[in-house]
Amino acid sequence: MTTATLIEGDGIGPEIAAATVKAIEACGGKITWERADAGAGAVTKHGDPLPQATIDSIKRNQLALKGPLATPSGGGYRSVNVTLRQTFDLYANVRPVTTIAGVPSRYTNVDLVIVRENTEDLYAGVEHYVDPRRTAAESIAIITKFGSERVIMYAFDYARKHGRKKVTLVHKANILKMTNGLFLDCGREMAKRYPDIQFEDMIVDATAMKLVVAPEKFDVIVTMNLFGDILSDLTAGLVGGLGVAPAANIGDGGCAMFEAVHGTAPDIAGRGIANPTGLMLSAAMLLDHVDQRDVAERLRRGIRAALASADTRTGDLGGRANTAQYTDAVIAAAR
Ligand code: NAI
Repeated sequence: MTTATLIEGDGIGPEIAAATVKAIEACGGKITWERADAGAGAVTKHGDPLPQATIDSIKRNQLALKGPLATPSGGGYRSVNVTLRQTFDLYANVRPVTTIAGVPSRYTNVDLVIVRENTEDLYAGVEHYVDPRRTAAESIAIITKFGSERVIMYAFDYARKHGRKKVTLVHKANILKMTNGLFLDCGREMAKRYPDIQFEDMIVDATAMKLVVAPEKFDVIVTMNLFGDILSDLTAGLVGGLGVAPAANIGDGGCAMFEAVHGTAPDIAGRGIANPTGLMLSAAMLLDHVDQRDVAERLRRGIRAALASADTRTGDLGGRANTAQYTDAVIAAAR
């Protein structure tokens, strides 16, 4: 039995977390869940978006499944997601994007993985107002050799381990010559250590266009935090949308946190219609991570089968099922 911290999260979080836990149990997963609070719900309950008990639970288990957390725009508390990634040094955000048979989308042949640096760059949110009247603000994008090398190495190792052929490093080094230039230099150096993996670099704006025109040309993409955030939503759109996109956050110390790419979906929260696939596929990555591969495969089989029919797919994918009906279909097909 493996113990994992479960953060249900805000908005649709509790609905998709319940569906995911039910599906894992039905597939024979041997996971004991230690429930912990974070996000807006934790502010209401404990007056703190990231209570110490939650940090302690993740520290103890080194493993977490996390629902989406609401982050106020503009003012309010700092993103708990960013804090969690930095607290546990979860430097590699791994987001596989694969066409799923039956799920309506514009493409039939997408199979790529985005490895996003998770702790540095503009996304770290190091910023301040320049003057007391707040008429100008400044953001600092820090890129380090250490941070760049380890995530690029992770991408190359991932490519090797998963039989992938090419790593594309995405940057804007033509304009951001120092920060992005450093990231690119680290990539060129690292590529020499992996002669068996093809390496190319691409400017981020051209990448956005090419991903839409010919996504099948990409294999593993490695990029910095903000570009990775944006491009991974774009790539989710290539295979049916945010509802089906999973992610893993991996740290050097062995700590790993799994979460869907999407947010709290406040527009549909509490209605029982959310699509739990993103979190279920993230949970399948968690099961792989703890060597319960047979359970993960059973869960993926159930998901593929349930997504294949409009009767059992959820509404965001053009289907007619609600969260509970979809979950039951996953479980029935997995068994
Ligand atoms: P969102 O991903 O929550 O929603 C965007 C659109 O996709 C909405 O129309 C929503 O209904 C739909 N959608 C998303 N997931 C879905 C699902 N599983 N099933 C069906 N439809 C789904 O993005 P938004 O609205 O920009 O953000 C809402 C909140 O979520 C914000 O507070 C934001 O900070 C937070 N957020 C948290 C993330 C995390 O915890 N990892 C990631 C992204 C956003």
